[in-house]
Amino acid sequence: AAERAYTIDVIAGDGIGTEVVPAAIKCIDQVARCEGFTVDWRHRDWGSERYRKDGAMMPADGLEQLADGDGIFLGAVGAPDIPDHVTLWGLLIPIRREFLQYVNLRPVRLLPGIEPRVRDAGNFDIVVVRENVEGEYSEIGGRAYRGRPEEMAFQQALFTREGVTRVAKYAAELAASRTGRLVSATKSNGIIHSMPFWDEVVSEVATSAGVTLEPVLIDALAARTVLRPQSLDVVVASNLFGDILSDLVAAVAGSIGVAPSANLNPPGDYPSMFEPVHGSAPDIAGQGIANPVGQLWAGAMMLEHLGEARAAQRLTAGFEKALADGIRTRDLGGSADTHDFTAAVLERLS
Ligand code: NAI
Ligand code: MG
Repeated sequence: AAERAYTIDVIAGDGIGTEVVPAAIKCIDQVARCEGFTVDWRHRDWGSERYRKDGAMMPADGLEQLADGDGIFLGAVGAPDIPDHVTLWGLLIPIRREFLQYVNLRPVRLLPGIEPRVRDAGNFDIVVVRENVEGEYSEIGGRAYRGRPEEMAFQQALFTREGVTRVAKYAAELAASRTGRLVSATKSNGIIHSMPFWDEVVSEVATSAGVTLEPVLIDALAARTVLRPQSLDVVVASNLFGDILSDLVAAVAGSIGVAPSANLNPPGDYPSMFEPVHGSAPDIAGQGIANPVGQLWAGAMMLEHLGEARAAQRLTAGFEKALADGIRTRDLGGSADTHDFTAAVLERLS
């Protein structure tokens, strides 16, 4: 058979992104060798360092440079001396929006050898499907009367039928392939225009997909995530609710350092982007102690998306075995540093 080869753009970014991305690349190259394909990594030095030099997180034609690749592998962006909306809206959000990555997929389950942070968490396995291009994080709004006592800010949430339908459809199909149950995060008691609309559209989609829909108010859902995470399977949520909920689930599972996410353009018109849920962690950056599991798991999701399911399984089994053997970074109560943990995974890959 002809050799399979993929072109992946790498944006390691800032802080611990520059530590966990090279670790994950080593492991992915190793599984690629075992499974008979190659990855051509196109390294991009985009991020805060570039912003300090040139005043922009990425080049003006950055998105065009990424458009012909098979995927984007991102570490994290964010630096203490640059406002977060500058770093986020200068790189991450333009990629998500211009490439219509309208699904943000965040799987969370208990990994071997990791104690859940709540008692009686059981053995849960949750996928949060977050709407990723509209909702509460819309670009519509503005500031007025700047610097005056009557100064104001105005931010308009945006929910479109097409936007809600496509993310609900993705979530319903995923639910159908798992337990057939779909939970929808809502707040239609308090937010009386957009959330009843969300409920209606999600309900239509769930009915036609033949899955059992349970709408749950987001505040109650937050409590249930802590008290009974094993009662959840696939959860579909708007941009803001999904953002918060997925960090909460990740924390319940042990550490934000293990949680991955995929920004998907399901029709495949544009490249999808794979990244850990965590940020650049300036408090531990440069010390070589970051947990690479979130980045590794994001890498496994990328391999799955490329159609390399066996490689994805091999990579996942690699970090699960290392954890099961008691090798853990400090955020998980262990003493391994990034290098030790990565070496342990590499040993368990072939
Ligand atoms: P963070 O996720 O960077 O850190 C939160 C806490 O978790 C810190 O104590 C950190 O040390 C710890 N932590 C995170 N990842 C870890 C890992 N892999 N191993 C061990 N410990 C880990 O979130 P924070 O502090 O709110 O944000 C820091 C910067 O990152 C900000 O500039 C923020 O805007 C940015 N950020 C970027 C994201 C992205 O690029 N997708 C996502 C979230 C935040
Ligand atoms: Mg977040």
